[in-house]
Amino acid sequence: MTSDQQTTNTDYDYLIKFLSLGDSGVGKTSFLFQYTDGKFDGKFITTVGIDFREKRVNYRPPGQDTQSGRAQRVHLQLWDTAGQERFRSLTTAFFRDAMGFLLVFDLTNEQSFLNVRNWISQIWSSNYSGQLQLHSYCENPDIVLCGNKCDLENLRCITVDRAKDFADKNGLQYFETSAATGQNVDKAVEALLDAVMKRMEKVVDKSSFPARTPVTDNGNATTKVSENEKHDNSDCAC
Ligand code: GTP
Ligand code: MG
Repeated sequence: MTSDQQTTNTDYDYLIKFLSLGDSGVGKTSFLFQYTDGKFDGKFITTVGIDFREKRVNYRPPGQDTQSGRAQRVHLQLWDTAGQERFRSLTTAFFRDAMGFLLVFDLTNEQSFLNVRNWISQIWSSNYSGQLQLHSYCENPDIVLCGNKCDLENLRCITVDRAKDFADKNGLQYFETSAATGQNVDKAVEALLDAVMKRMEKVVDKSSFPARTPVTDNGNATTKVSENEKHDNSDCAC
């Protein structure tokens, strides 16, 4: 998967929306900044409400070699939510449109790990209650759990085994990441993209995609009618 800066705004095959969530200060904004720009800033500027980043990637399913068919051009919209409680009703309103979730906790902060369970409930109650049967895409939300700040090894209070055990019991993929060094940041996003693309392919096989594609203009999401071949699930509850 490589970033592709040369394409025009609508020159893509798939528009994929991911959303980061987790307690305030766990490193969601830093994680996304590292993913999109390869940079890290040690200052803490808490996110107010919701923010937004974008990146283009070329996607090939794992195992597909570069000779067999062209890569899918993916436009990633990355929604960065505020972890602070006072923004909760605003941010959870965005959960509904996300196709996948980057659920982040801080390996040096026990409470942020304990709260992962609550964040999972928020995803389910915001997105999926009563809608499970409507869209085959949405039978289970794709969630990747990130134990962030793994560069701070001497401050760690959540062991790898404890986090992995939780992830396994809850059917989540788990990565130990560092927004500071970049460790596993790309891998975590790629794993989520792979899970979502696999799910999308199943839906395409069933020819059940809606023909609406949201596009963005200066960070503001708008919706336009597009060609059928641009795949998006904006009518979907997830
Ligand atoms: P809210 O916007 O309030 O929800 O917080 P957030 O989750 O977006 O946290 P943010 O990315 O702003 O990071 C909080 C603080 O942790 C900042 O000072 C970051 O520099 C620091 N930080 C984030 N990720 C890492 C990391 O992987 N390692 C280290 N050492 N510091 C990190
Ligand atoms: Mg933030």
